Amino acid sequence: MLEKLREIEKAARESLAAVTDQTALETWRVTHLGRSSPLMQVFSGLSQLSKEDRPTVGQAANKVKVALESAFAERAEAVKAAMLAKSLEEEELDVTLPGRGVRVGHLHPSTQQLRRVVDIFAEMGFQVYTSREVETDEINFQALNFPPHHPARELQDTLYVDAGERGDNPVLLRTHTSPGQIRAMREASAEHPDDPPPIRIVLPGMCFRSEQITARSEVQFNQVEGLAVGENITFADLKGTLSDFARRMFGQNVRTRFRAAYFPFTEPSAEMDVECFVCGGAGCPVCKQSGWLEILGCGMVHPVVLENGGYDPLRYTGYAFGMGPERQLMLRYKIDDIRYFWGNDVRFLEQF
Ligand code: PHE
Repeated sequence: MLEKLREIEKAARESLAAVTDQTALETWRVTHLGRSSPLMQVFSGLSQLSKEDRPTVGQAANKVKVALESAFAERAEAVKAAMLAKSLEEEELDVTLPGRGVRVGHLHPSTQQLRRVVDIFAEMGFQVYTSREVETDEINFQALNFPPHHPARELQDTLYVDAGERGDNPVLLRTHTSPGQIRAMREASAEHPDDPPPIRIVLPGMCFRSEQITARSEVQFNQVEGLAVGENITFADLKGTLSDFARRMFGQNVRTRFRAAYFPFTEPSAEMDVECFVCGGAGCPVCKQSGWLEILGCGMVHPVVLENGGYDPLRYTGYAFGMGPERQLMLRYKIDDIRYFWGNDVRFLEQF
């Protein structure tokens, strides 16, 4: 039996020496160490041996098995190394192949549009004022002439921040960029309370409302607010500035119109429409057959708001406006679902 084991080992080692590739390696493993290999048959034949022979033969067979396994591992390493050396030698590295491109991102379409709007007003001499997204009821509503429980609050469903019991002045996420008007005016008037300086600013940023998310309404959206305060500012300045903005944004020949509207913080108030750029004013589904698209709210700053900002309404007047860049993009590109903006789908974002 021991003699047979020696032969098994010898034969296995000889045939292993001839192995030079992966397939041969696998074949060798099955033949010499597999379940029906001669070596394994020795193991299964152990029970037929006499009690005295069994341990000696068992131990010897084990030794052979361990030796063959390690010889196999060694050979496998050598085959791998040889194949690598061979492929390095034979296969040329083509350094002229084009590399894998790096995907370059870009600004979100809303940010792009926000910047277009801001750029146009910057050309007209407006400065950018960034206000906060988390506000108090006092600044977001009360100072803008929405007293507690005023019905106009119904227009702006509000998200509140859990900040403890604060009575009529809870903390909230700003529902529009208009509270920035109060902050900007207070900041400017605080420096020269008796002679506050004129203001000409735009205030871009995110606003939040407690809306059911649908194709037409989202819980977050951008606005660009505008504010001009000074002596002798009239509604004509408002109309001129916004009509010029519309021409720069939508084309030199675009027609605009102002319609009376209501906001608590402006008086008189208006909404500005631009001629529908899909149908040119003839009437189509985008403008709901009216020929006009509403793009912003505006008006003369309400005397109460000037007062709350530290500006004497008997001396100063001003105008304000607010517009939504997402809405402008939707009209411009006939985007029929506002949810695309924050849906994070690159197939949408890539198109801008
Ligand atoms: N804040 C208003 C809104 O969100 C828009 C607006 C701004 C209207 C400034 C008039 C003046 O609906």
